[in-house]
Amino acid sequence: SNNMMDDVEKILFSETELAARIKELGQTITADYAGKEILMIGILRGAVIFMSDLARAIDLPVAIDFMAVSSYGVSTTSSGVVRILKDLDEDVENKNVLIVEDIIDSGLTLNYLMDNLWSRKPASIKICTLLNKPERRKVEVPIAYNGFTIPDHFVVGYGLDFAEKYRNLPFIGVLKPEAYQG
Ligand code: PRP
Ligand code: MN
Ligand code: MG
Repeated sequence: SNNMMDDVEKILFSETELAARIKELGQTITADYAGKEILMIGILRGAVIFMSDLARAIDLPVAIDFMAVSSYGVSTTSSGVVRILKDLDEDVENKNVLIVEDIIDSGLTLNYLMDNLWSRKPASIKICTLLNKPERRKVEVPIAYNGFTIPDHFVVGYGLDFAEKYRNLPFIGVLKPEAYQG
């Protein structure tokens, strides 16, 4: 079938629930950064949909930039070394960086990025993730803002993909096993 809904076992967070939580996150971030400007760094590609809604929920000046990364092969995933496919366009020195992610799984991507970004001497770095899957964590990362903590389910939608599909679902759903086991 070409209907994405047929591959969804259940809806974990509806469009309405996502909007409500993102509004809360935006209000918290607005209060925490009062009087400051924020540089949001979105991690391509999964973060883009969350980031676009989050940015509009913040009532402060928000600049946006993006990075794209890819982990090296399976053999080196434990090292946590990631390859930068697209670096930032702007300098982050003395900026208040807010890294925006759709999901934190092993934590390896963000662990690497935090080290990499700190070396560029920003004023601050905080992480905002929509979803947090702590059961899969291999390395701890400090999460300042967390939308929802979820169990180890295969989730898609609202930016999250399986094989580049389902990113444009307006909700977060659990994928049926037959949809990813082929
Ligand atoms: C996913 C997700 C996070 C990362 C989390 O990205 O969007 O960026 O993996 O995994 P980790 O905590 O184990 O490092 P993915 O590599 O699938 O790329 P995408 O965002 O383009 O889908
Ligand atoms: Mn990603
Ligand atoms: Mg992906």
